[in-house]
Amino acid sequence: MARFAALLPLAYAMGAFAQSVAYNDPNTGIDFMSYQDSKSGARFSVATPETLGSDFIGQIVAPTTEGWAGLDMSAQMASHILVVAWPNGDKVMSSLREATGYTTPPVYTGNATTTPIANGTFVNSTHFAYTFVCNGCITGEDDSFPNTVSGNAFGWAFSTDAPAAPSSEETALNMHTGFGAFAVIFANSSSASYDTWASWAEAVPAVTAPVANNGTSSSNSTVGVDTGKNTTSTTPIATTLNTTYDYIIAGAGPAGIIVAERLAESGAEVLLIERGDASTYASGGRAVESWNETVTQYDVPAMAYYLSTAEVTNEYCTDTADMAGCLLGGSSMINALMFVRPQERDFDDKWPTGWKWSDVSSSAESFYERNPGTISPSKDGQRYDQGAYDVLSSFFTSNGWSSVNALEEPNKKTDVFSHPPWNIQDGLRAGPVLTYLPLAKAKKNFHIQLNSTVIRAVRESSFVSGVEVELVDGSRQIINVKTGGKVVLAGGALSTPRILINSGIGPADQIKTVQSGSVAVTLPDQAEWIDLPVGKGLKDHPIITLKFKTKTSLSSLDTTAFTDPTQVNADLFAHGSGLLVQGGQRLNFWSSVNGTDGIERFVQGTCNSPSNDTIKIKIYLTHGLTSTGEIGVTSAGATEYITQPWLNTPEDKDALASFVDRLISFTKIANSTLTLDAGLTASSNVTGADLIKTFVTGSHFVGTAKMGTDDGRKGGDAVVDLDTKVYGTDNLFVVDASFHPDLPTGNTQAIVMVAAEAAAKKVLAVQVSGGSNSTVPTSSATSVVAVSSTAAQSSAIVATSTALSSAAVTSAPAITSAPASSATIPTTYTTNTATTSVAVPSPAYTQVPKYGRCGGNGYEGPTKCAEGSTCKYQNDWYWQCV
Ligand SMILES: *[C@@H]1O[C@H](CO)[C@@H](O)[C@H](O)[C@H]1NC(C)=O
Ligand SMILES: *[C@@H]1O[C@H](CO)[C@@H](O)[C@H](O)[C@H]1NC(C)=O
Ligand SMILES: *[C@@H]1O[C@H](CO)[C@@H](O)[C@H](O)[C@H]1NC(C)=O
Ligand SMILES: *[C@@H]1O[C@H](CO)[C@@H](O)[C@H](O)[C@H]1NC(C)=O
Ligand SMILES: *[C@@H]1O[C@H](CO)[C@@H](O)[C@H](O)[C@H]1NC(C)=O
Ligand SMILES: *[C@@H]1O[C@H](CO)[C@@H](O)[C@H](O)[C@H]1NC(C)=O
Ligand SMILES: *[C@@H]1O[C@H](CO)[C@@H](O)[C@H](O)[C@H]1NC(C)=O
Ligand SMILES: *[C@@H]1O[C@H](CO)[C@@H](O)[C@H](O)[C@H]1NC(C)=O
Ligand SMILES: *[C@@H]1O[C@H](CO)[C@@H](O)[C@H](O)[C@H]1NC(C)=O
Ligand SMILES: *[C@@H]1O[C@H](CO)[C@@H](O)[C@H](O)[C@H]1NC(C)=O
Repeated sequence: MARFAALLPLAYAMGAFAQSVAYNDPNTGIDFMSYQDSKSGARFSVATPETLGSDFIGQIVAPTTEGWAGLDMSAQMASHILVVAWPNGDKVMSSLREATGYTTPPVYTGNATTTPIANGTFVNSTHFAYTFVCNGCITGEDDSFPNTVSGNAFGWAFSTDAPAAPSSEETALNMHTGFGAFAVIFANSSSASYDTWASWAEAVPAVTAPVANNGTSSSNSTVGVDTGKNTTSTTPIATTLNTTYDYIIAGAGPAGIIVAERLAESGAEVLLIERGDASTYASGGRAVESWNETVTQYDVPAMAYYLSTAEVTNEYCTDTADMAGCLLGGSSMINALMFVRPQERDFDDKWPTGWKWSDVSSSAESFYERNPGTISPSKDGQRYDQGAYDVLSSFFTSNGWSSVNALEEPNKKTDVFSHPPWNIQDGLRAGPVLTYLPLAKAKKNFHIQLNSTVIRAVRESSFVSGVEVELVDGSRQIINVKTGGKVVLAGGALSTPRILINSGIGPADQIKTVQSGSVAVTLPDQAEWIDLPVGKGLKDHPIITLKFKTKTSLSSLDTTAFTDPTQVNADLFAHGSGLLVQGGQRLNFWSSVNGTDGIERFVQGTCNSPSNDTIKIKIYLTHGLTSTGEIGVTSAGATEYITQPWLNTPEDKDALASFVDRLISFTKIANSTLTLDAGLTASSNVTGADLIKTFVTGSHFVGTAKMGTDDGRKGGDAVVDLDTKVYGTDNLFVVDASFHPDLPTGNTQAIVMVAAEAAAKKVLAVQVSGGSNSTVPTSSATSVVAVSSTAAQSSAIVATSTALSSAAVTSAPAITSAPASSATIPTTYTTNTATTSVAVPSPAYTQVPKYGRCGGNGYEGPTKCAEGSTCKYQNDWYWQCV
């Protein structure tokens, strides 16, 4: 599948792969071909036998005593065998993984294994090293490369953030801080001594480290490889808190904060629970900027495009099927700030009666009053860095499109463009952390608890008496509602399903996965399970990225203008003005395409200029699309895709392809100011159908606990009723994007907050009948069975770092590229050599560097080889540029 083609571009954008050089490792004496990342100093090395079989020797040496590093079988990290290693105290841990998306890579399930070589495996005071025989790693299948090739491009990744649970082999990994690819020519990496070196590998060495720890007189530390697989731990008994609440809200993302604040306005006792830590400076976050220590990286609008490569990257969830924000504010803190007010049709087409635009418009007004968004964020009234806007506005105008104010005219969505509507206020990232939370905190009846992951709703039959939460130290609490109280789920479309399934609500096979899984979850008796289609209504916007060259000169700012600003810009920022109070986009456009099925589908574009004379356009297929997918839970307590939600219907594919064809046709008109980027090869014949194969996730997930009248227990597709109350329960509600029955025309953040405002009124109005015993839960409902589970297992759901939270809509790359969030993928990233823009290659016009893959069964990537190489058959599955 091409859906993670996002990984490809990272490699290709670098042009040719970095080359490896000969390296004799002093600790082992092995001769490697090696690549060292000049930025971090991390080193990745490969040695091979004279005749390539299924094994090679790999080495990872990284300058960290608490991060992690990985070596991948391909420059395209998703769907390939990945060896990850990290230090755990003085032990080196390792694990084979296979990345599936923009999220922490799951444990690999195939036959390949690694065996450590003792004197190349250690932790000293500055580094850790893992030297290993990769047994069976050259598979000849899609997850690796065949032994008939003369060279291969390996991927690497490095992070200074510790894995979530370093003692567990299956730990979630935080996102990498650096990554790239390098080529190894096997003629150079092979040696007659290979067999001798490989014979040093031992399953579980316990040896003395060869390298002095830090040059002091202390003895060398003893190291070994700890698999971590068999460490046992006992889940603590949950403590039941004495304080009870009228409302408990699980998840302080955009929906959770708004609903909590509105419920608190009623005077009720409200507890808002968030798994992550504070985010903005005002909320207590301290990931501050070097140039202004009273703002965090989340506060600064211009940082929105660069968060995934910023100093702190622990804000991404590590247990969600795709990217999501796990901190106070959820994905509203990590997205690229797009604030596209929903058009009326976003509600009127598919939302049920009671939720049409006429029903929710007053809620929208109340929301916009507090949080209006802006197309002109700078207090001095100026717009900065407008070159791309000037080029694009004249390009679209000359093709008959109109200029609109996207905030004031949300219903104009065909052949229009606008200055980007941003969620920015007072020169800072807006959203409910800024615009609602302070109002809530001013009320005595509002309470917030951070660093607490909601495991489940505690449910007896139809009544929910409270929630069970897990704290950072792994301990558990039961927090109860008062008589007549309610529990409201707002963990985001990728996490709320986990809480529902853990509460015995969802497809039976999913609940059984929890039952036999490794997270200690006390489920209701099977007779009490509520069979609802949780996870099944998943929808998302697919995105493709195109690059264009400008005919007239367009100068682009370097990334550092945003990430390491000049004093002039820092001073402007201090006064709410300048480049830094703007988001990353420079123009937005919308159009629509009528599908062959008669359904009108909308298209959105966001544009910027990542380098001189270049325009980058991200195109989203949005409202009206018909593809759906499904998520479920893993035995380790994460959510994962069962079916991916993108471009599953021929009509969706046709619609997106035909819009792209239309855009290309604009560039072929005489006097067009843009040409499709043909920097690599001629592009005259490229079509929309070729280009849409490079789609990636929009990270705008909705529909996993869909609202409707069609009760899911009776075969319908709805999980919650029109009050957002879960079918079959008295007092359990879902108010985040999970309940949305359809995808909007724009990015999801504005509509999530509009719908949350409307949902708050419904939740408030429902009278709860059950629950006479609610403040004194029975032991059967609330005691946690003390089970023995592995460290790996219980860690999966523990918020072991400030990073973990449940908040919202998107996903987290671990070893993948690095989209920022629910709005836009960042445009640049840093490689060892330079900051390079990420160009999405089209199969038709991107070159594959030497030693890259260029064909084979199931391959949908680029096929044209770089100059000096040609695409050669290796086997049916693998063609390579050699
Ligand atoms: C590493 O260990 C192997 C096997 O024990 C040994 O033969 C080799 O000489 C060692 N290398 C160095 C540089 O000490
Ligand atoms: C793993 O090995 C077994 C036994 O040799 C084989 O049947 C199976 O196909 C292999 N699996 C993979 C993914 O290569
Ligand atoms: C060396 O390690 C010891 C113990 O970990 C520590 O106390 C000492 O400060 C370190 N010395 C240097 C130079 O890093
Ligand atoms: C730790 O090991 C690395 C890799 O061998 C080496 O480069 C570094 O100098 C060592 N650090 C110390 C303090 O010995
Ligand atoms: C630590 O290892 C180094 C390198 O093998 C060796 O030279 C040194 O004597 C050892 N130090 C101690 C205290 O064992
Ligand atoms: C875990 O350890 C026990 C006791 O040492 C052993 O019997 C069991 O086989 C181990 N399990 C695994 C999966 O290694
Ligand atoms: C709850 O109250 C009881 C009785 O006052 C007390 O013994 C218990 O320690 C309290 N529990 C907690 C968790 O505060
Ligand atoms: C940092 O930015 C804030 C605006 O959020 C401003 O009030 C403050 O003066 C700035 N500090 C410096 C040192 O520029
Ligand atoms: C799609 O069809 C509708 C009527 O069903 C029409 O109003 C609209 O203009 C059409 N859009 C396009 C892009 O052709
Ligand atoms: C959350 O946990 C982290 C890590 O333990 C800690 O640094 C932070 O202070 C905690 N935040 C709060 C609000 O307790």
